[in-house]
Amino acid sequence: MKRALIAGLAIALSAGALTAGAALAYDAASQIKDRQAGMKQIGGAIKGLNDTLNGDKDPAKLKQYAANLNALSGKVPGWFPAGTGPSSGEKTKASAEIWTDPAGFKAAAGAFAAQAAKLNAAAQSGDAARVAAEFGPTRATCKGCHDKYQKK
Ligand code: HEC
Repeated sequence: MKRALIAGLAIALSAGALTAGAALAYDAASQIKDRQAGMKQIGGAIKGLNDTLNGDKDPAKLKQYAANLNALSGKVPGWFPAGTGPSSGEKTKASAEIWTDPAGFKAAAGAFAAQAAKLNAAAQSGDAARVAAEFGPTRATCKGCHDKYQKK
């Protein structure tokens, strides 16, 4: 009787562990998808800025894209929770170094956020020339992170 109870308990426990494992895998997949979607939004804001700077230079559009980019830049560090790297088995270009070199990754994300804030301040001033001056340095911070922490 006692033995049966213990066996039953063991089965219940391992079923619980299986469920937790499945939930973790699901979380990694959805978190990876969310960050890739977020990065796409960042790419969209950069494209919008680029097109506008090479087009009508409309200050209202520059303001909107830059504010969007600035808001997204603050979210980047939160898009890389542990367990969402290559070892998750999910399709991701996030390199394992993000988690083995957290200080370097944090610095790369910080450089981007600082530059996005500068670009946003320039855009909110309504001066397209100032935005253009900050655009190259902002793109350089994307490359700075991708070169090191994004797999080819
Ligand atoms: C701090 C690091 C970091 C910064 C800064 C950064 N990225 Fe990324 N980006 C990544 C990583 C890592 C991936 C791969 C994510 C994955 O596949 O899970 C990625 C993926 C992408 C993708 C592909 C998304 C997809 O469809 O899968 C685009 C587009 C992108 N980044 C654009 C940008 C642009 C534009 C900037 C700058 C304005 C930027 N990123 C700044 C780390 C960064």
